Amino acid sequence: MDLFEYQARDIFEKHGVPVLAAAIATTADEAEKAAETIGGKVVVKAQVKVGGRGKAGGVKLAENPKDAREKASAILGMDIKGHTVRTVMIAAAAPIEAEYYLAILLDRSNRTFLVMASVSGGMDIEEVAHTAPEKLAKIPVSAVDGISMSKAKEIVAAAKFPAEVADQVADVLLKLWEVFQSEDATLVEVNPLVKTSDGKIIALDGKVTLDENADFRQPEHQGLVDEAGENPLEAAAKEKGLNYVKLDGEVGIIGNGAGLVMSTLDVVAYAGEKHGGVRPANFLDIGGGASAQIMADGLSIILGDKDVKSVFVNVFGGITACDSVANGIVQALELLGPKATKPIVVRLDGNNVLEGRAILKAAAHPLVEQADTMDGAANRAAELAAK
Ligand SMILES: Nc1ncnc2c1ncn2[C@@H]1O[C@H](COP(=O)(O)OP(=O)(O)OP(=O)(O)O)[C@@H](O)[C@H]1O
Ligand SMILES: [Mg+2]
Repeated sequence: MDLFEYQARDIFEKHGVPVLAAAIATTADEAEKAAETIGGKVVVKAQVKVGGRGKAGGVKLAENPKDAREKASAILGMDIKGHTVRTVMIAAAAPIEAEYYLAILLDRSNRTFLVMASVSGGMDIEEVAHTAPEKLAKIPVSAVDGISMSKAKEIVAAAKFPAEVADQVADVLLKLWEVFQSEDATLVEVNPLVKTSDGKIIALDGKVTLDENADFRQPEHQGLVDEAGENPLEAAAKEKGLNYVKLDGEVGIIGNGAGLVMSTLDVVAYAGEKHGGVRPANFLDIGGGASAQIMADGLSIILGDKDVKSVFVNVFGGITACDSVANGIVQALELLGPKATKPIVVRLDGNNVLEGRAILKAAAHPLVEQADTMDGAANRAAELAAK
């Protein structure tokens, strides 16, 4: 889960990373009041989970509370790369002398953690990384040793931080490591980390990604979920414990096993090309134990998607055999009753396939059609969706 900047800032503060006074506002009124409380010059910053806010006009300096009000009303409601700004953060304005870059991330390709650091931080860091990669130090960090003071000093030296800020930057690195580790993050990025005119090091912008696999031991992270920004179908699926991702096509997909569902998306997209560009409407993996209840939950989420025109249930019977899945589908349709409204193409294969197909045939539900092969089923589902 990606966090908003203000949430990252609060987590930084909790772990002792130096940040500026700030408050969030959802109206121009609140922005003015927040600017009054903070006092002096402030910056008004769009809170959207996408990079390049500054360049898009979503970060503006305000001279006084009245000005903050005006800047906030211009930024609130703005569209930044498809994200609507619903909240702004009002932060004290810092007198910036230099902008640096620090990030700790999970480096999957090297199976380790990685620190990236540069004294050429700020809004052009992507450009720097591209055109002058030598200015971006990359230092692997072992999960066992983490970032100790000596490791922090090694990083500071590798990135060539000026001597007068070296100790402060090393200290910030230790605290960012604490954030990374104790909050179960996969990314902690500070851009810019600034040196102010009085020589202080402050994190002016933060980007944090939390590892949702660790949610079970991070109960506080539940409070960070952006419910307003969540897709309602995905939220409903999450509540039911389903592994569902909304996509923007017309063929609803249900399968057992993530790999099978991924390849189902591919065959449906491929088959859809012959039917006017029909595409898969979602990813939904109902996992191993496809009980009637899970099947009903999955079907009801998919049938609740107004874009869905047909459904493709693709099951390969393994530990859960096809006959139990077939019973699950039949019972799910009974549970759904008149709520089941769209044609459903079922492809069963694997363990107990003949029994499974016989159960569906005997049930003879008017919405259900069977197909023997995955390609055949994908083609039929795409054809039904195109009608
Ligand atoms: N509190 C502040 N005081 C003074 N200047 C600021 C402050 N916050 C941001 N700035 C300036 O605005 C620039 C852009 O801000 P910020 O880094 O928060 O947004 P961004 O980098 O454009 O957004 P993103 O990181 O999402 O791409 C900074 O590089 C800095 O120069
Ligand atoms: Mg930034």
